[in-house]
Amino acid sequence: MKKVLIINGPNLNFLGRRQNYIYGNETLYEINEYIKSEGEKISISVDFYQSNHEGDIIDKIYNECENYDGFVINAGAFTHYSYAIYDAILSVDKIFIEVHLSNVFSRDDFRKKSVIAGACFGQICGFGKNSYVLALYALIEIF
Ligand code: DQA
Repeated sequence: MKKVLIINGPNLNFLGRRQNYIYGNETLYEINEYIKSEGEKISISVDFYQSNHEGDIIDKIYNECENYDGFVINAGAFTHYSYAIYDAILSVDKIFIEVHLSNVFSRDDFRKKSVIAGACFGQICGFGKNSYVLALYALIEIF
């Protein structure tokens, strides 16, 4: 059984109440339950971490890098400006898939740039909660 950690960044704790027309009606807890059950179908055990704090996300990456086979990260708005998270991903030399619920290319201009994309194996966006599930399927191909 492969182990994957899903990291969610700022404001994703408020899913279900935050801009539902973009992010849907489900809470992060409900989405995580869905991802967990989809992961089981392909023999991936999934754990979850969410933080609104850049440094906490970086600490988590360092503290857990040896404990997981792969990582899925939705860095929220940090995606667009956190060179510190980019450096942390590069430093640990593990497989990261970048995901977004929304299609970041069809929204504000600032969302079209991801500063962490270059440190990740690939990027999946626009499929709602299935962006995370597709990332699990991508990881299975890479493992
Ligand atoms: C997001 C897209 C980001 O631009 C935004 O800041 C988020 C959520 C997404 O999942 O679509 O917080 O990462």
